[in-house]
Amino acid sequence: MAAGNGIVGRAPHGVEASPEMSPTSFAEDPIDAHQPVMQAEVVRLLTSAPADPRRAARLRLVDATLGDGGHAAALLDAAPGAELLGVDRDPQALPRAAARLARFGERARCVRARFSELEEVLDRQGWQTIDGLVADLGVSSLQLDLAARGFSFRQAAPLDMRMDPSAGESAAELLQRLTERELGDLLRAFGEEPRARAIARAIERAKSRGAPPLSTEELRAIVAQVVGAGAGRSPRDPATRTFQALRVAVNEELDELERLLAALPRRLAPGARVAILAYHSLEDRPVKTCFRSWTARCSCPPELPRCVCGGTARALDLTRGALRPGADEVARNPRSRSARLRAVAWLGRTADGSAGESHGAG
Ligand SMILES: C[S@@+](CC[C@H](N)C(=O)[O-])C[C@H]1O[C@@H](n2cnc3c(N)ncnc32)[C@H](O)[C@@H]1O
Repeated sequence: MAAGNGIVGRAPHGVEASPEMSPTSFAEDPIDAHQPVMQAEVVRLLTSAPADPRRAARLRLVDATLGDGGHAAALLDAAPGAELLGVDRDPQALPRAAARLARFGERARCVRARFSELEEVLDRQGWQTIDGLVADLGVSSLQLDLAARGFSFRQAAPLDMRMDPSAGESAAELLQRLTERELGDLLRAFGEEPRARAIARAIERAKSRGAPPLSTEELRAIVAQVVGAGAGRSPRDPATRTFQALRVAVNEELDELERLLAALPRRLAPGARVAILAYHSLEDRPVKTCFRSWTARCSCPPELPRCVCGGTARALDLTRGALRPGADEVARNPRSRSARLRAVAWLGRTADGSAGESHGAG
């Protein structure tokens, strides 16, 4: 399902024209800018010492989760020769990001699309390969703080949670459609919620009384009744896992991530860097697994007594596992507290260890 048909333009006026977007500026906007998480680390990982100095003068970078353009602006400041393509599926994010990136003129372009459509976006841009990509997964401050989007159980709103409100089912519609069993499975799979079955049963009871949860408050109240308002010793709100599960499902977040990771080997130039910020284990796990498979030398099944593949790593691990934000950053920006940053440098080899294609400038 494509998010709009969204391509492309250049900042300062570089956002695909779309009826939902009205020009805006941070000065007029009541919502605070999203604070980019681990910004210094992301910039260092994506821009320092490129493997091929000939490309350094003209790096082609992608911010797959443009949001408010915080990481994008920092990357463009740090790499004066770089061009950046910013992608976001949220029509409300793009004009704000474009306003922030306006000072970079032709070097920044903003595109409304899902990041699973990366290859299409690059094709339309005429970029065969890229030298770096950052993905800062999850929701932005804009999405959490705009009550009407229905992402936050702290704010009363219709139960929506779509990053692109013009596409797909809202969370309320999803709840209405799922059976009790399907909902229990979803809450377990995408929220790792131990009381998944009991919550699903309570929602089913509300539905059969003709009172399905239609707002964030109604859903939160049902979960609180099942889990208990205090939920024991946990400082987290008892509705946290349920809201996470619905958001992940409504936005098909894990599928999006898998598709992005699958596309990257076809589009990374030798030496390209990839940095991904994840905020919970469900989204960190596929990144970890994928990066491990790229950085492993041998791809033989573990049951084989010795290596028969003669494999060669396709990427270098730049973060030795995951980096975490420092205590200062967490104190300054509590939304960073669960971040895990993983990064690799692409070596330009195919899975069988041969040298990858020689990539033209695109
Ligand atoms: C955490 S915010 C990014 C903030 C950004 N790094 C900054 O510094 O302002 C995540 C953004 O990614 C977008 N997003 C999430 N999943 C997406 C997807 N599959 N395709 C495109 N955009 C996505 C969301 O709409 C949101 O604006």
